[in-house]
Amino acid sequence: MNPDAAKINAAAAALEFVREGMTIGLGTGSTAAHFVRLLGERVRQGLVILAVPTSEAARTLAEASGVPLVDIARVTRIEVAVDGADEIDPGFRLIKGGGGALLREKIVASAAEHFIVIADKSKPVKTLGAFPLPIEVAPFGFTFTARRVFEALRATGCAGDEVTLRQGASPTLPYITDNGNFILDAAAKKIPDPAALEAALKRIPGVVEHGLFIDLTHTVILGDDDGVEILDRPADR
Ligand code: A5P
Repeated sequence: MNPDAAKINAAAAALEFVREGMTIGLGTGSTAAHFVRLLGERVRQGLVILAVPTSEAARTLAEASGVPLVDIARVTRIEVAVDGADEIDPGFRLIKGGGGALLREKIVASAAEHFIVIADKSKPVKTLGAFPLPIEVAPFGFTFTARRVFEALRATGCAGDEVTLRQGASPTLPYITDNGNFILDAAAKKIPDPAALEAALKRIPGVVEHGLFIDLTHTVILGDDDGVEILDRPADR
C-alpha cells in the first residue's frame, strides 16, 4: 500500500459528501490535509461552502488552499466534518489526537450532523490501545492529573499504564496545544472497555478532553492504492 495514494483516495471519496452551501468541519493530520487541498480545488472550480478548521495547522492549510473559513461561533450547523484517525475499531470507536488537536476535533465531530473518518487501511484495529491515547490536560497540577490517569488505566483493565508528557520541538519543553494545554500520552496497549475508560477520564479534574471518540463516527472511508471502502456505522450502535 502506498499510504499517500490511499489517503488521497479516501479524501477524494469524502468530497462526494460535500454539497453546495454546507458548512464543513476540517480535520487535522496528513489524511485530512489531503481533503482540505482537494476541497480547495473544488472551491476554485466554483463550489460555495464555508469551513471550520479544527486546529491552527488546518486553518493555515485551508487559507493557503483557498478554502473560505468561518468562526465556529458564527455557525449554527456543521453539516459534514471530515477528519483522520489514529485507530478505528469495529464499532467505529476511535483514538485521535496524534497531532495534538483532539479537543477542537472532538467539538467539531460532535457538532457535525455527519462525521466522516478518512484513513488508509493501516488504521483499523480489533482493539484500541496500541496507539498511545492522547489526553489534553491543564498545565496546572499536571503531575497529579497524570497520576489519576495512570490509576484510571489500571482500574479499567488496560494492558499498559505508562503515562508520559508529550514533548515539544525542544526536548526540554512540553508540547503546547492550540488551547494552551499539555498532552499526556497514555500507553494503554489494549483498552478492553473504552466506555469505562472514557467515563473514568472524564471524572479526573485537570483532564480537558481525551482522544477516545465513541459514538461520534457515522461513516468510515478506508483508502488503498486502488480505491476505497465506504463503511456506515454498525446498526447495533
Ligand atoms: C490530529 O490530532 C489527529 O487526531 C489526526 O487526525 C490523526 O492523528 C490522524 O493523522 P494522520 O491522518 O496524519 O494519520
